[in-house]
Amino acid sequence: MKALVVCGSMRKNGNTNILADEFIKGAKEAGHEAEKVSLRDLTFGDCFGCRACHGNGGICVQKDDIGNVLEKMKSADVIVLASPMYYFTWTGLMKRFLDRTYPLLPILKNKDFYLITLGGVPDKKYMANILSDFSMYVGCFKEFNQVGCRVAGNVIATSALKPGAVRESKALEEAYELGKNI
Ligand SMILES: Cc1cc2nc3c(=O)[nH]c(=O)nc-3n(C[C@H](O)[C@H](O)[C@H](O)COP(=O)(O)O)c2cc1C
Repeated sequence: MKALVVCGSMRKNGNTNILADEFIKGAKEAGHEAEKVSLRDLTFGDCFGCRACHGNGGICVQKDDIGNVLEKMKSADVIVLASPMYYFTWTGLMKRFLDRTYPLLPILKNKDFYLITLGGVPDKKYMANILSDFSMYVGCFKEFNQVGCRVAGNVIATSALKPGAVRESKALEEAYELGKNI
C-alpha cells in the first residue's frame, strides 16, 4: 500500500507532526510506502471557484505547488489528513488545501481516508465537529459516484496543547498501530 499524509499544522515540531510521523513509521515498518507533505512548506492560493477543472479532465488553472500533491493523492491508496483542531475544525491551512482538491472530485477512486487530529480539550466529545467535517469531505467523493472512497479510521489526541504533549498520550501508539495496519 502507498500512504500519503497531508499535514496541516503550522508548528514544524508540533503534535500533529509527531502523530503523522508515528503513523508513517508504523506504515513503513509494515512494509508500506508512506510520505508526508507539510502544507506549511508549500506555496499555494485559494481555490478560485472557476470550476474549470471539472470541464478539462481535472487540471487546475493555478500553477502552484498543489498540482504535485494532487498527483500524489491520485497514486496513493491511503490518504491521511492530519490537522490540529482550530476552533473545533481543521486549520485554515488544511481547509485551503482541501478546497484545492476540487479537481479530484470526479476522479479519485478507491481511497482509504484517515484523520489525525488533536487539541487542548480534555475529552473526545469535543471532536464531534471535526469528525463530521471529515466524514462530509470524504462523502463528497461518494456524491460524485466515486467508488471505494471511504472513511477508514482516525487517531484523536486530547489535552494536547503544548508542542510535544502527544508524546505522553496513548494516541502516539494508536497512530503507529494505524499506520501499521493500513
Ligand atoms: C488558533 C487556535 C485555535 C485553537 N482552537 C482549538 C480548539 O477549538 N479546540 C482545542 O481543543 N484546541 C484548540 N487549539 C489548540 C491546538 O489544537 C493545540 O495547541 C495543538 O497542539 C496544536 O497542534 P500542533 O502542535 O500540531 O500545532 C487552538 C490553537 C490555536 C492556535
